[in-house]
Amino acid sequence: MHIIDHTRCLLSIGRGRPQVYYDGYQLPLFDAIIPRIGASVTQQGAAVINQFELMRTFSVANADALLQCRDKLRCLQKLAQKGIAIPQTVSVVSGEDLFPVISSVGGLPVVIKLLESTHGVGVILAETFRNAEATIEAFHRLKERVIVQEFIKEVKGTDIRAIVVGGKVVAAMKRQAKAGEFRSNLHRGATAEKVVLTEAENQLVSQVAKLMKLNFAGVDFLRSNRGGLIMEVNASPGLEGIEGVTEIDVAGKVIELIEKECKEVAI
Ligand SMILES: Nc1ncnc2c1ncn2[C@@H]1O[C@H](COP(=O)(O)OP(=O)(O)O)[C@@H](O)[C@H]1O
Ligand SMILES: [Mg+2]
Repeated sequence: MHIIDHTRCLLSIGRGRPQVYYDGYQLPLFDAIIPRIGASVTQQGAAVINQFELMRTFSVANADALLQCRDKLRCLQKLAQKGIAIPQTVSVVSGEDLFPVISSVGGLPVVIKLLESTHGVGVILAETFRNAEATIEAFHRLKERVIVQEFIKEVKGTDIRAIVVGGKVVAAMKRQAKAGEFRSNLHRGATAEKVVLTEAENQLVSQVAKLMKLNFAGVDFLRSNRGGLIMEVNASPGLEGIEGVTEIDVAGKVIELIEKECKEVAI
């Protein structure tokens, strides 16, 4: 196994076979790659994954799927198109009248999100109209794209993170935001515990990973009064939190998936 910093890869395309150069050397043909792409280098990471895909290397995450998941609006559009339940969501452009927007997601409070938020930074609960307006204006001034979302209050700061590998849920945890906070990100001080999903939730989560064409995914949902609402899909989910909480060797499951996929190709 080789660990390669994808931000230092040179991609050669044109005449001849596509190649990847690293530190001046041409990389050999690998059987498989496990992309671990940080949020600040999504485009570059996707280009590297795509290059390996052109070289017929099996990738645990598909380049297009990664791009789709990194944009919250595109991801939710895709899910909604396929009939998956999500919190009611509106994308807002600068200067828009916010009254109809806020009433269309069920009124105040509303959740305002940057399309490329991670670790909960860029997710805000606006309790008053003025507050929502000022927040959205500030984001637009910074040229950030935002969505306004129905606030699912009954979850009381909890959400579920389920990990899917090869079409099956292999681990799941329930995260609880710290006191006074609605965001249940571990990076925002939330705590987590192992959770068993219902049959319906298992099916929902596997279906979402399949729709997004991800062999390995972290699917986050809210246990609302009207059932599971998908909030986001992670194409490069962190493992430390979930492995620590569930004591399940998720990385091992990913390796097993690669062994299976590569064996099938070899036969
Ligand atoms: N519509 C919502 N209703 C209630 N809580 C929400 C809603 N959207 C997000 N949250 C809370 O905020 C957290 C962060 O939101 P999320 O969309 O996952 O952004 P990020 O990608 O930054 O983690 C979620 O884990 C959840 O606890
Ligand atoms: Mg999140």
